[in-house]
Amino acid sequence: MKTLRERLTEARAKKVAVGHFNISNLETLWGIFHAAQNIATPVIIGLSDGERDFVGVRQAVALVKSLREQFAYPIFINADHVSSFERYKEVIDAGFDAAMFDGSELPLAENIKITKQCVEYARQKNSEIITEGEIGFIGKSSKIHDVLPVGAALTEEMLTKPIDAKKFVAETGVDLLAPAIGNIHGMLRNAKNPALHIGRIKEISEVVNIPLVLHGGSGSAPEEFQAAIAAGVTIVHINTELRVAYRQALQKSLQENPEEIAPYKYLKEPLKAVQKVVEEKLRVFNKL
Ligand code: G3H
Ligand code: ZN
Repeated sequence: MKTLRERLTEARAKKVAVGHFNISNLETLWGIFHAAQNIATPVIIGLSDGERDFVGVRQAVALVKSLREQFAYPIFINADHVSSFERYKEVIDAGFDAAMFDGSELPLAENIKITKQCVEYARQKNSEIITEGEIGFIGKSSKIHDVLPVGAALTEEMLTKPIDAKKFVAETGVDLLAPAIGNIHGMLRNAKNPALHIGRIKEISEVVNIPLVLHGGSGSAPEEFQAAIAAGVTIVHINTELRVAYRQALQKSLQENPEEIAPYKYLKEPLKAVQKVVEEKLRVFNKL
């Protein structure tokens, strides 16, 4: 079966993106998997520190790899926003296909130093592991915000600069780069999310010449995704929209079935709600 690296190379050549969707439970994983099967595209499952703490590091790997093996399907697992070198080692040792060290709140030199350590650790373990680094702070939480995340890099001056991106990639050796280009984690309750800076994505892509990762995908319009992908984005992360769909469907399911106590019955609708969102996104990311 083709590796994640090969799948990313193919996506980049075709100017499409691989969808990355976060999970913190089994029914969300099934929703994403069914969606990917229906659209017939590769997919990446992500778990941040908090999500891994809840699901279990080795358990998450076992779940995703069991789907890959049983269905001979290109489904991969990424440790998302890993916050320390110790945690990075843990996920690499547990068998994640990809991992991202998030040093976006650190000074650039410190971010480079720890990201490089992470890359070296992953490489000596298995050269097929995909490593990702991030520069530029885009907020921390996949949730509904009343105001923009404090400190998010949204002004022209604060967006990731091509010169920093180039230095970061050259000095760390990462396979993928997540820049701050107007994106934020989460969605605004009463307004549209800020617009993506497509021109900056292009400038960064040209100088780093590795695939870019668009974090904070929830709340962006289909045309924005397509422009971002054409400019150099090869992976798009979605979390908040899945959480919202799951939660709303769960509330409705419980309201409509107040006496139901079998989780496999009242969780069917949340699973389907997640599947619907993922199918819509995968169509956009793959120009279908
Ligand atoms: O790493 C996770 C993503 O960047 C999700 O962002 O919650 O805004 O979709 P989002
Ligand atoms: Zn993210």
